[in-house]
Amino acid sequence: MKFTTRQWILIFFTIVLIACNKNKENPKVQNAVVNNTYQLNVPFYFGSYKIPADNPLTDSGVALGRRLFYEKKLSADNTMSCGSCHKQKFGFADPNQFSVGIDGIAGTKQSMALANLFWQDKFFWDGRSSSLEEQALLPISDPIELHQSLEAAVGKLQNTTYYPKAFYVVFGDSIINSKNLAKAIAQFERALITSNSKYDLYLKNKYTPTEDELNGLNLFLTHPNPEEGLRGGNCGDCHGGYLTSLRGFHNNGLDTEPDIGLMAVTGNPFDKGKFKTPSLRNIAITAPYMHDGRFSTLEQVLDHYNEHIQTSPTLDPLIIGASNEKNGKSLKLTNKEKADIILFLKMLTDSTFINDKRFSDPFIN
Ligand code: HEC
Ligand code: HEC
Repeated sequence: MKFTTRQWILIFFTIVLIACNKNKENPKVQNAVVNNTYQLNVPFYFGSYKIPADNPLTDSGVALGRRLFYEKKLSADNTMSCGSCHKQKFGFADPNQFSVGIDGIAGTKQSMALANLFWQDKFFWDGRSSSLEEQALLPISDPIELHQSLEAAVGKLQNTTYYPKAFYVVFGDSIINSKNLAKAIAQFERALITSNSKYDLYLKNKYTPTEDELNGLNLFLTHPNPEEGLRGGNCGDCHGGYLTSLRGFHNNGLDTEPDIGLMAVTGNPFDKGKFKTPSLRNIAITAPYMHDGRFSTLEQVLDHYNEHIQTSPTLDPLIIGASNEKNGKSLKLTNKEKADIILFLKMLTDSTFINDKRFSDPFIN
């Protein structure tokens, strides 16, 4: 059988029409086009990390999470978001000692800096949450933070023109639920990788530290051993590795009657006064310091470790034994050594990270 040109054209458009309709009916085809895997830029020395099988990072997922992170609709009176207490400019921490929630009530803990969360498995100062997906929903309903039921939060998002479409693209479902809400926020949080500080440039052979910075780094990493003439600040015992935290929980000697800490989670009196060892990346811009934000400068922090360790039954053995003097009762660093350690800590500031437009407030930028 022979077709005329007109018939050929008709056949062609029929095929195009069928193909287009198929695309409309099958969301997977659409998703495949827009939902690319998010490209993480991770230096090799950070070590391996595990992307959760049920929540891989995608471009549209991270973008949705970013918007939700800054979405004030997540608070009961539409005035606050996660970004209100985790500010990019301050390494995603809060310069206030205690963050104030929507009802004007302050909490009792210092807001934590958010970065390199892929390499952490316990969240909050007492480690009471073990996944970012689980953690993300807690500030929303917390009475002194965003103070809104999850149903109300989800309802508000559903009631917009933006979110149902965005959730559809990411999760293939335009009906929003708290599970997908948490997944999107967690994707954004995992994308918050800081790996471009002076310290990183040094590790990548692109920066030569000054003599003082290098001295600070060595002191930071070294456990003192006066018998062998080895001077050290002992920090690396807990803040070791390139991520500057070995992820342990310790009592670092803040009080003779320490706060409950990890014991609130385990019920074990042996865990009283133990807190999550925070990463020190961007530490120079995430003041104030410690779980209760008691120190406002790094000088105060160094004075604490050097001269003011408080003894209590759970004080960490790594601290008890550490001194630069034979049989010394405290660390006994010189003022110059303390200053050098601070110079090293300042090398951990990553200005690319705090200015990265991918992580900024999309309602402003
Ligand atoms: C009112 C201030 C405030 C708001 C709003 C807030 N946070 Fe926090 N965030 C904190 C404080 C304070 C802590 C430490 C609390 C503790 O340990 O008890 C914290 C801890 C965290 C941690 C743990 C980090 C770690 O290293 O263990 C994560 C993750 C986090 N917040 C994410 C979020 C997300 C996501 C939102 C929004 C849904 C949010 N936060 C909203 C103040 C806030
Ligand atoms: C025995 C383990 C241990 C040692 C040794 C140690 N730290 Fe810490 N560090 C911790 C823990 C745990 C915390 C959190 C404590 C808290 O908030 O109650 C902390 C908190 C900090 C903070 C505050 C972080 C923040 O986000 O608020 C800084 C800064 C710090 N340490 C620096 C140092 C330096 C510098 C040294 C060496 C002179 C050092 N640490 C030695 C375990 C340790």
